[in-house]
Amino acid sequence: MNIKLIGAAVLGAALLAAPVAMAQQTVIKFSHVTTPDTPKGKGAEKFKELAEKYSNGKVKVEIYPNSQIYKDKEEMEALQLGAVQMLAPSLAKFGPLGVRAFEVFDLPYVFPDKAALRRVTDGPVGKALLAKLEPKGIKGLAYWDNGFKIMTANTPIAMPKDFQGLKMRIQSSKVLEAQFRAIGALPQVMAFSEVYQAMQTGVVDGSENTPSNIYTQKHYEVQKYGLETNHGYIGYAVIVNKAFWDGLPADTRAQLEKAMAEATVYANSIAQSENDEALEAMKKSGKIQLSKPTPEATLAFRKAMDPVYSEMSSRIGQDTIDQVLKATS
Ligand code: LMR
Repeated sequence: MNIKLIGAAVLGAALLAAPVAMAQQTVIKFSHVTTPDTPKGKGAEKFKELAEKYSNGKVKVEIYPNSQIYKDKEEMEALQLGAVQMLAPSLAKFGPLGVRAFEVFDLPYVFPDKAALRRVTDGPVGKALLAKLEPKGIKGLAYWDNGFKIMTANTPIAMPKDFQGLKMRIQSSKVLEAQFRAIGALPQVMAFSEVYQAMQTGVVDGSENTPSNIYTQKHYEVQKYGLETNHGYIGYAVIVNKAFWDGLPADTRAQLEKAMAEATVYANSIAQSENDEALEAMKKSGKIQLSKPTPEATLAFRKAMDPVYSEMSSRIGQDTIDQVLKATS
């Protein structure tokens, strides 16, 4: 064989091998709705870094933040269809999928602090909830924190009565709907990506969200008042398409599990400071007037919202509520 032919043979072999090598790379499309500059955004970046490292480049993670390719409802459908492989939706967004027990996380004032929350997510309740996703073709891998929610509106808000008649944007959770009805507000389900414009144009008067979300989505530029109620929690379930996950080679799956475990520790370690910094930044901006509720106001909110527990008992499952209350007390 002359040199040219050897060269051609080598080139041919390389060309034949190339698609094989490329086909061996697993791509995980990770879609989410917040900016990269949030607890979830940073957690996703950390997972990408670790997944690519531990798999020696066999896995590539492509992150699509800020509702770039899918909004709230669409991303769930895209995951089930396999158009994306990984998401981290808020725990308040699993109801439309038919997994209503997750709405236990939306109950007003259910978690006195993060430690109580962690006992739920890391305990049997957390595990049982993730298991409920499997018949939907979804595997739950981890819980990631955002933080506790505050109220915002375009009219002064201090007491429950101030919410009478206000159009409040909510995530797609019946518990959140009941919570706002309990204080006389008019809850409106809306995709996260649409909230800024809805606030700006007066389609809604206010909302509830974490300081990190309010800051990074610039809601504070179109809301005049904020009340630091910390009445509820926003966190995420990191989920994957189950068929995709089960179809991975065992060693790759183990590498990704390790990456996810470490990314979870990281995401949960930064969530509080991300929210604290966002709150400070909003205070400094002078664009929104933030205040803390008085002890009387907190008591009044708790009292007004308390009936939500019994109203939502059959939807969530009283056993789940009881288990959560036991773990948090
Ligand atoms: C919201 O819709 O307000 C949040 O769930 C967004 C998010 O993912 O934190």
